[in-house]
Amino acid sequence: MKNYQPCILQPLPEQAVYLTCNLNRSASLEQVIEALQSLDTDNNVVAIGQSLLDRFNQSVPCMRAMPAFASQHIGAATAIDLWCWIRGDDRGELLHRTRRIIHHLEPVFDLVDTTDAYLYASGRDLTGYEDGTENPVGEAAFEAAILMNDNSDLSGSSFVAVQQWQHDLDRFDALPDEQQDNIIGRRRSDNLELDDAPESAHVKRTAQESFDPEAFLVRRSMPWSIKLQAGLMFVAFGHSFDAFEAQLNRMTGADDGIEDGLFQFSRVLNSAYYWCPPVKQGKLNLAAINS
Ligand code: HEM
Repeated sequence: MKNYQPCILQPLPEQAVYLTCNLNRSASLEQVIEALQSLDTDNNVVAIGQSLLDRFNQSVPCMRAMPAFASQHIGAATAIDLWCWIRGDDRGELLHRTRRIIHHLEPVFDLVDTTDAYLYASGRDLTGYEDGTENPVGEAAFEAAILMNDNSDLSGSSFVAVQQWQHDLDRFDALPDEQQDNIIGRRRSDNLELDDAPESAHVKRTAQESFDPEAFLVRRSMPWSIKLQAGLMFVAFGHSFDAFEAQLNRMTGADDGIEDGLFQFSRVLNSAYYWCPPVKQGKLNLAAINS
């Protein structure tokens, strides 16, 4: 029987809604646990922020608030209590499911925001580049994303870094094709990795095997747009936040002064860390914060 939230390792859905909520003032821990355990984990990923744990003086090993990253392109992390990745194929059905989830949560959580996301060209970023090519698969994905340890209350947990990136697509489109390919480090036409890409190329900055220890992540990002504002909701699951932090530090130039080419046309609007609790018999297993 799987003890982790199954959607973490499933392929991307066609459509999604990201829902964020904060606790209302009167909520008790018992009410929070009851509300969270009413949520379906077969079609959604449910994750808890450090601010919720702090409110009830709880801590979860490996969980922490997102640190500040030294980059003018990355805003301060946001303190959000609850994040849900609501996944489906039909936008209408997703809207109704999102409304039902909000009603279930209403006695204890206030809605902060919803953002619609979707698959573009079978899994490309809105710049047209394939995203996810070097994701670990199968057993390697499980090992990268899911915490397995002897503490049975935490076993099956995952830790997710979420960053809403906004692209300046006009600026990107104005660049010559070769410069665009050099920003990513892959050729858009056939996804071939460019050996002679500059050190700032995104895939050189983040090459998972080049870190010590190796920094593997399971990325499950999706494009988002609101009117003509658009970008990538970067979502990366790990058995801890260490791999994400190593990569983002190198992207900002903290290691060697070289900034990731992505910052030429994209910036981070908001970001946060969350704990994805394990599951037991289809419900979130919150024993780690309920004893
Ligand atoms: C605007 C935001 C981003 C865009 C558009 C983007 C896009 C891409 C693309 C097109 C690839 C190449 C194909 C692939 O292997 O998936 C890639 C690779 C990768 N990206 Fe990003 N990415 C973004 C942000 C990030 C962030 C914030 C991180 C981590 C902190 C990250 C980590 C990675 C990793 C680990 C790889 C694979 C590197 C390898 O081992 O070859 N990306 N990304």
